[in-house]
Amino acid sequence: MSLPTAPGRETAIRVRAIEKSYPQKDRTDLPVLRGVDLDVARGSIVALLGSNGAGKTTLVRILSTLLAADAGTASVNGFDVATQAADVRESISLTGQFAAVDEILTGRENLVLIARLRHLPDPGRVADDLLARFRLTEAGGRRAGTWSGGMRRRLDIAMSLIGDPSVIVLDEPTTGLDPQARLEVWQTVRTLAEDGTTVLLTTQYLDEADQLADRIAILHEGRVVADGTPAELKALLPPATVEYVERQPSLEDVFLALVGGTTPTTTPTSDPEDDR
Ligand SMILES: Nc1ncnc2c1ncn2[C@@H]1O[C@H](COP(=O)(O)OP(=O)(O)OP(=O)(O)O)[C@@H](O)[C@H]1O
Ligand SMILES: [Mg+2]
Repeated sequence: MSLPTAPGRETAIRVRAIEKSYPQKDRTDLPVLRGVDLDVARGSIVALLGSNGAGKTTLVRILSTLLAADAGTASVNGFDVATQAADVRESISLTGQFAAVDEILTGRENLVLIARLRHLPDPGRVADDLLARFRLTEAGGRRAGTWSGGMRRRLDIAMSLIGDPSVIVLDEPTTGLDPQARLEVWQTVRTLAEDGTTVLLTTQYLDEADQLADRIAILHEGRVVADGTPAELKALLPPATVEYVERQPSLEDVFLALVGGTTPTTTPTSDPEDDR
């Protein structure tokens, strides 16, 4: 499917000196973004890591044209979010922090609805293909309100893929999910990136960023204070000293062993920080 892309752009998302303040009750402004710079290479997964209130959602709302920045520039696929908003919306899909699934409709009906809104030729087939891809076919005919949180989150991500956006933004895709559902969402995100979709995700979880991202950008006090591969970020600290620690299984290992989930293949096995 042809995707709207300005020619010669290898950077899917480019953010320069973005600033945003919100007016408060006492009529002062709360500066949330104070000059954010960020690049997301095409086909990569970038995690924007930040604590509660760091401004992650504010930045993704600016990138998806839902909110105007006070200063700075941002572009998606080479299109400026302020002056070429329609092109940006064609390029990007936002899966918000709170699931946008309609609980009264079945999972399949949710997908058909979005496919209709996007004027796709065969909405039923689009829905069935996505249900199969996300391993939701069996539940497809049931009201989404009866689905588990992890299933709803996957349906939410599936809905945002309708129309084949080349860039997908996931705002805290796994907050509130149990470990097994988290792993399912992680696998979904990896598959997306393998298929060539550019993924920007926000998270407050260090392990999520470590597991998924090609690059991690840390948002703190309104700025990206560090940006690099997980290995580069780890190298910022002095080299680790060798210590011999008996590794106890973490509670997550125990939980997953009992319920039959698989542990992520790249989980470090000797990091004492992991032992809880
Ligand atoms: N519409 C708004 N009006 C006023 N203040 C806002 C508004 N939206 C966000 N804020 C404030 O801006 C700051 C950043 O909020 P934002 O939602 O971007 O953070 P976040 O990093 O996504 O946090 P979380 O991890 O909790 O989702 C917070 O202090 C928040 O209270
Ligand atoms: Mg948020």
